[in-house]
Amino acid sequence: MGNVNAIGLFDSGIGGTSIWKAINELLPNENTIYLADSKNAPYGLRTKEEIVALCYKNVDFLLEQNCKIIVVACNTATTNAIKELRAKYTVPIIGIEPAIKTAANRTETQTIGILATKGTLNSELFNRQVESFASVNIMEQVGYGLVELIENGQIESQEMTQLLTSYLKPMIEADIDYLVLGCSHYPYLIPAIQKIIPENIKIIDSGEAVAKQTKSILENNNLLNNSHGKSTQIFYTNGNLTVLKNILGFEENVFGREF
Ligand code: DGL
Repeated sequence: MGNVNAIGLFDSGIGGTSIWKAINELLPNENTIYLADSKNAPYGLRTKEEIVALCYKNVDFLLEQNCKIIVVACNTATTNAIKELRAKYTVPIIGIEPAIKTAANRTETQTIGILATKGTLNSELFNRQVESFASVNIMEQVGYGLVELIENGQIESQEMTQLLTSYLKPMIEADIDYLVLGCSHYPYLIPAIQKIIPENIKIIDSGEAVAKQTKSILENNNLLNNSHGKSTQIFYTNGNLTVLKNILGFEENVFGREF
């Protein structure tokens, strides 16, 4: 297929394209293959066992395409399955976790908010992370319904504004100064969130950090693509093709496919 040695990325749907965008911006020379498992979204309401099984399926597909490294572009999949993935596969596997550490280190009000899926907030990995910042008040909120609306292409809907307002109001009242977006779908909500929160609250997501991490792992493993030809970016979804094309803003190499 001409895309040997690509970076393989997957998410429960289209949200991980926010991570793909950060990686593609930093590493434009790299080929990428992105898998949107929209048919099985949301992962955030599934059991750990189900999430691990879906992750195996996604990684197997990407390795069949000769990917040299896997980026788990999903906080829910990372916090529930990264250990199992690293135990099963030999390629480097990069995960994304909510950027609690950055927010906890920078907060002046000693109160931060995190919006993420139920699966992430209930995970052992996340809770271990939270325990190490005991001096900071961390307000956790499950973003019920948000992923479903994004997957339906309803980012700017009234329902979205209503849900976000109800989730963010208690955080604003508690005087958070940082809001952590702990789900790779949520960066697409930043314009909507900014209409609700006051300007002094800063929003943090994990895109840039994951892109830097990907670059350094590729460098350390001698896996960077040093050829000077045009790179190829391929996208597969088992869900709604139009919604994926719309969020990417282009149509080239975006395919519907069962997996
Ligand atoms: N995009 C995913 C995340 O980062 C999960 C959404 C879901 O399927 O619940 O958590």
